[in-house]
Amino acid sequence: MSRVAYVNGQYVPHAEAGVHIEDRGYQFADGVYEVIAILQGKFLDEEGHHDRLERSLRELRIAPPMGRRALSHVLHETIRQNRITSGIVYVQVTRGVSRRDHPFPADIRPSLVVTARRIKGPSAQTVEQGVGVVTMRDIRWERRDIKSISLLPNVLAKQNARESGAYEAWLVGEDGLVHEGSSTNAWIVTRDGVLVTHQPDHAVLNGITRLGILKAAEELKIPVEERPFTLEEAKQAKEAFLSSTTSHLLPVVTIDRHPVGNGHPGETTRKLLAAYLARFGLKSGSFA
Ligand code: PDD
Repeated sequence: MSRVAYVNGQYVPHAEAGVHIEDRGYQFADGVYEVIAILQGKFLDEEGHHDRLERSLRELRIAPPMGRRALSHVLHETIRQNRITSGIVYVQVTRGVSRRDHPFPADIRPSLVVTARRIKGPSAQTVEQGVGVVTMRDIRWERRDIKSISLLPNVLAKQNARESGAYEAWLVGEDGLVHEGSSTNAWIVTRDGVLVTHQPDHAVLNGITRLGILKAAEELKIPVEERPFTLEEAKQAKEAFLSSTTSHLLPVVTIDRHPVGNGHPGETTRKLLAAYLARFGLKSGSFA
């Protein structure tokens, strides 16, 4: 079955889908995006993703291409036409097409692209065994709360991680504080059992999975501190994990090859993953 993409009002064959070469997304990375997981036919936290998309657009003064209900319809129609029951839907909104010139053009219409595909996600074995992260200096801009398509530092960090044999790169500020991963949020569980993750300020993306995990922690009565942690604190932690739409919660068992806790996924991580999935009526986070 051939894939279908939505581009500015039309469903078109994916292989032929395109935007103009003077789209500001292409020229300036002047746009934002969302990735939403679909598991067993259910959208995970669709409203949270709409909330964040609308916020990113407001922050950059890009006009919403359509209302929330209409956009939701496009997302569901795109996954229906691609026959996705487990996978992701990708939404990208750019400021639109105009002659290349830095200031915002007057009377520009935003471009909207929606694609959907199956993904593998981390295997059951990966979730069981946990993954390694390496650390790198965070060289991104100062508005990391906006889900901008300008991802070059993230791409370089992820590539560096993969070339080092790690799953993810944790990005560390000049002050030695861990911000987040290249495409995931970063978490630790202290030796006293406190769950710690960076507060949702301009330094990090406020992950939708992150928000779901905080709700799961509340249900489980796990104490939470939203604050930065240092690399040293992370290495001394009892447990660590990362979170995102495509990996849910994934145990982190080494940081720069240094084992975290006993070097195996921890109990709190496991409980949080189960409680996070249970919020959607799911027992497994597998995309298979
Ligand atoms: N990445 N931090 C960064 C820098 C991210 O790019 C992401 C998401 C997250 C986690 O956010 P969420 O829980 O809403 O997925 C944190 C997506 C999945 C991506 O770029 O593919």
